[in-house]
Amino acid sequence: MGEVRFDGKVAIVTGAGGGLGRSHALMLASRGAKVVVNDLGGTMDGSGAGNAMADKVVNEIKAAGGMAVANYDGVDTVAGGKNIVKTALDAFGKVDILINNAGILRDKSFVKMDEEAWEKVVGVHLKGAYCVTHAAFPVMKENAYGRIVMTSSAAGLFGNFGQTNYGAAKAAVVGFMNVLKLEGGKYNIKVNTIAPIAASRMTESLMPPELLEKLKPEFVTPLVAYLCSEECPETGGIYSVGGGYFARIALMEGTGFAKPVDKGISIEDIRDNFAAVNSLENAKYHPNLQSENAAIMANIMK
Ligand code: NAI
Repeated sequence: MGEVRFDGKVAIVTGAGGGLGRSHALMLASRGAKVVVNDLGGTMDGSGAGNAMADKVVNEIKAAGGMAVANYDGVDTVAGGKNIVKTALDAFGKVDILINNAGILRDKSFVKMDEEAWEKVVGVHLKGAYCVTHAAFPVMKENAYGRIVMTSSAAGLFGNFGQTNYGAAKAAVVGFMNVLKLEGGKYNIKVNTIAPIAASRMTESLMPPELLEKLKPEFVTPLVAYLCSEECPETGGIYSVGGGYFARIALMEGTGFAKPVDKGISIEDIRDNFAAVNSLENAKYHPNLQSENAAIMANIMK
C-alpha cells in the first residue's frame, strides 16, 4: 500500500492560522490537497481579527510547493460560512474535505458564566460548525463525495471544571455529527469527530514544556488526515487523539432493566433494580435512534 494522498481534492480547514488547524492544513497540502486556510486571526477569547495568521500558513504551504488560499471570515455567521465555501469554489471549483476546527475559550465557573461568554463560545464551536458545513454540504452532495471532521473535546464528552459553555458546544457537535452522518451516508459523505489534546496557544500555559513537546499538533493530524481520506471506512466515529494515542470513544447503552408496562411501573421497581438500570456491563453501541429504540419496542411488544 502506498502513501495516503489527496491529489485533486479540495479541503477547507477552519481556524487553520495556528495550532491544530495549521498542522492539518500543512499535512493535507503536503499530500496533494488544495487547501483553504480559514482563520479570523483574533485572540484566544475570540476578540480581534486580522489576516496575518491565515496568510502566514498559506505562505508556508506555498513555500513547501503546495497550493492554498487564505480566507479571513469568522465561521460563526451564515455569511461567513458561505464566503469560506465560496473561497474554495472560486479558487479550486469544489469542496471535498471540511475540517471544523476553529475555536475559542472563555472559561468561567458556572455562576459567573454570563450570556456573552456562553453565546460567543457556543457560537464559534457549534453555530460555526453549522454555518460552514451548511454551505459545504450541498456541494459535497452534488459531487457525491465528502469528508467532514468535527473537533470535539474531552471537556464536553467527559467534563471539565469551568467550561460549561465550551463543554456544551463540544458535546453538541457530536449530536450534529450523529445526524449528519445519516443524511450524508448515501452521498459518500463521511462525518467523524476528534477529541484531541495538543500543545497550542490554548494549552501552552497549562502544561510544562517537556509535556507540550510530546503533544505537538503533528501527532494529532495523521488521524484527522486519515478520516479525511478516500480510504477512510468509518463514519460517525469519535476518537480520542494526542501524544501518539488513538482510541475510539462512544456513547454506549447498558442492557438495562425491563418490565412489561401492564404489570405497573413503580418508584420501588427502579429502586430495587437500580443496579441493573445503572450498569454499563455488556454496553452496546447504537448507530442510530432506531437501533437504540429497539429494546424499548421489544419490551412493549412482549
Ligand atoms: P488555537 O487557538 O491555536 O486554534 C484555534 C484557531 O481558530 C485560531 O487560529 C483562531 O484564530 C481560530 N478562530 C477562532 N475563532 C474563529 C472564528 N470565529 N472563525 C475562524 N477562525 C477562528 O487552538 P487549538 O488548540 O489549535 O484548537 C483547535 C481546535 O481544537 C479548537 O476547536 C479547540 O477547541 C479544539 N481542542 C483543542 C484541544 C487542545 O488540547 N489543544 C483540546 C480539545 C479540543
